[in-house]
Amino acid sequence: MAPMTRARAGIERLPNARLATYYCDRASVGLIISEGVVISEQANGWNQSPGIYTDAMRDAWRDVVSAVHAAGGVMFAQLWHSGRASHSSFRADGSRAVAPSAIAINGEYMHTPIGKQPYETPRALATAEIASVVEDFCRAAERAKLAGFDGIELHGANGYLIDSFLQSKTNQRTDQYGGSIENRFRFLREIVEAVTSVFPANRVAVRLSPNGVYNDMGSPDYRETFSFAAQQLDRFGLAYLHLMDGLGFGFHQLGEPMTLAEFRPQFRSLLIGNCGYAQETAEAAIAANHADLIAFATPLHQQPRSRRTLCQQLAAQPARRNVGVVLIRRRGLQRLSEIPSKLSKPRSIG
Ligand SMILES: Cc1cc2nc3c(=O)[nH]c(=O)nc-3n(C[C@H](O)[C@H](O)[C@H](O)COP(=O)(O)O)c2cc1C
Repeated sequence: MAPMTRARAGIERLPNARLATYYCDRASVGLIISEGVVISEQANGWNQSPGIYTDAMRDAWRDVVSAVHAAGGVMFAQLWHSGRASHSSFRADGSRAVAPSAIAINGEYMHTPIGKQPYETPRALATAEIASVVEDFCRAAERAKLAGFDGIELHGANGYLIDSFLQSKTNQRTDQYGGSIENRFRFLREIVEAVTSVFPANRVAVRLSPNGVYNDMGSPDYRETFSFAAQQLDRFGLAYLHLMDGLGFGFHQLGEPMTLAEFRPQFRSLLIGNCGYAQETAEAAIAANHADLIAFATPLHQQPRSRRTLCQQLAAQPARRNVGVVLIRRRGLQRLSEIPSKLSKPRSIG
């Protein structure tokens, strides 16, 4: 299941029984990637999205993850910093959103705690501050581990902080975090290095949106940028690379879209595709060996009541962890019990 922000965590941003039910209802998909989970107060940019930057948040997530495990699911936390897609009203001290460069989203308005507001120009992070944001990702990974998550996915898609560092459109820095593709990749590299000291690399994943226009993204050098990122990420032996290759979430139209097939030789671990897939197109992509998994978001938005009841029953019976759990995989449908061994397959870092 692809990450889907549901904005149900209240103003305290605490996961709750509603979230537990929602995820348990979907545990039978096999691998659940959580909605974006914010890593710090600075990272907030969406009303009532859950956080993982306090011990209370950690403990509340533990209840959710335990319930998902009891229902037979595997759950990764998507760690999120919203970057420039935020507003000063999200922070108690009224401080502005942060970004690689002081470039506002060119858009009409955003939803904030004080209603619809025009986008603000973010503040460019000082070079010396960047380490503390990396540290926030690391602390969030530690809490995710203590909460029992099976792994973490770094939200590097959709114009949020990591994506805006990667892309030339939003990163016009002149220090070691900007300019060349290598420099723009440095922020993500440092985060991956930090969080792989918490989780083993094969429990850490990255999500990217090379074709996306969401949050006013799309850079002329997108192909070089995302090819480089995939090749560099390959060196870490990560759990998977999650690509929004489909165009259903908006396409920047700056050239031919990047495809799963194009990424395949650049990233040797699991490749997950997403965006606009149906069962037939997902199975075709897997059969053609363009991807190992296809993630679904909106098809899992609603679920019939009967499934919900079944999931609740499973959640109440921890001994039945692997009952009926399947996932679309390269050779068709396989049981969830095979996924953890695939995720923990030893990989060489070269
Ligand atoms: C309501 C909603 C919330 C979403 N929240 C997130 C999110 O928190 N993190 C993320 O990476 N993508 C998010 N997305 C994007 C989805 O993960 C997915 O990429 C998109 O819906 C396309 O996939 P689909 O065609 O299977 O729905 C969200 C999409 C929707 C519709």
